[in-house]
Amino acid sequence: MTELTNARRVMDRCDILGRISEEPDRLTRRFATSAMRATNAAVAGWMRDAGMAVRQDSVGNLIGRYEARDIGAKTLLLGSHLDTVRDAGRYDGPLGVLVALALVGRLHARDERLPFALEVVAFADEEGLRYHTSYLGSRALAGLFDPRDLSRVDEDGVTMDEAIRAFDGDPAAIARERRDPETVLAYCEAHIEQGPVLERRGLPVGVVSVIMGQSRYDVAFTGQAGHAGTVPMDLRHDALCAAAEFTLTVEGLARRESGLVATVGQLTVAPGASNVIPGRATLSLDVRHLDDAARDTACRDLHNNATAIGAWRGVVVEWQPVQESATVPCSPDLGAALSRAIEAQGYEVITLPSGAGHDAVVMSALAPVVMLFVRCEGGVSHNPAESVAVEDVAVAIDVLDGFVRALHP
Ligand code: GLV
Ligand code: MN
Ligand code: MN
Repeated sequence: MTELTNARRVMDRCDILGRISEEPDRLTRRFATSAMRATNAAVAGWMRDAGMAVRQDSVGNLIGRYEARDIGAKTLLLGSHLDTVRDAGRYDGPLGVLVALALVGRLHARDERLPFALEVVAFADEEGLRYHTSYLGSRALAGLFDPRDLSRVDEDGVTMDEAIRAFDGDPAAIARERRDPETVLAYCEAHIEQGPVLERRGLPVGVVSVIMGQSRYDVAFTGQAGHAGTVPMDLRHDALCAAAEFTLTVEGLARRESGLVATVGQLTVAPGASNVIPGRATLSLDVRHLDDAARDTACRDLHNNATAIGAWRGVVVEWQPVQESATVPCSPDLGAALSRAIEAQGYEVITLPSGAGHDAVVMSALAPVVMLFVRCEGGVSHNPAESVAVEDVAVAIDVLDGFVRALHP
């Protein structure tokens, strides 16, 4: 099968998965939902076709294993995630899983075994949409799953514990999913760039140098609900106005501080009626910077800002950390090996940082990690307009092929 045929199949499969959604008119696939069950079933079939032994682990990750030439050899983990954000594109996550699968399919077709086993891991949760804490899948493999998260509740009141059981998982067994680092050679993830750099440089792929650290918070403003017609403006404790003032403060700080990006992405207002002064507003805050100290400082400043806004408005502020990850460097040695594989395909090599988080962040606690970015149109991502060229996918498969063949256990 030519590279392009292989790549077309990856694109077709991204299209198929892109239609498996919890919502009729847009792609939304949260952790441990029936949409994820259908997705895992489709990918499991493709894994078997590629000659892999397949299982779903106790948190819901789908894992396909292609044995090594020699018994007892180490394992190279390849993968990405199958969950999505709300109203997502088709490629963020699935592309990495399906490109890895295409690589194994090629080896299988040639009846070729490597001196290490390959496992394609389709992570069950990277985006954190359902429980607001991301990387549930990779945390299980890295031994970083926090059992306290099991009591988190989704928007329908379902606990994570209940959701995992309903997904044929076993919360009590998640701790045992931790891999022995001695058995893992490395973790390699292909992913769309989600930014404009490769497109600007006219290159199909690039090597990731570091993945930016991030902090996430839930912030709640509680004021006093009241009648929109009768309460004078100077006597109000409007929770939404406090949240709005804070949101603009977040934007202002991130515009001033070089390298800082900060986002309020979710806002809920209660009770939520046109003639009622908002009594409570809750929002999500996402803060990122390549420099961990600069991110810490920004988070402290924003916490102080929220407190000050609450104080002058007579609104109570609750500030709850949800998760934090430091900036993670990718392995320079593996990056050099990936670079050689890119050069061998005749392309200039560039390295670039990732502003997006990836399963590789968590997997770096287990093994050296390496990431290959694939150009995407306009750098658009977390958006249904995500678009990738089949020719670039073909290059990514060839590069990974060269990379794994040159890798020594
Ligand atoms: C993952 O998509 C992230 O939020 O960086
Ligand atoms: Mn994403
Ligand atoms: Mn992703």
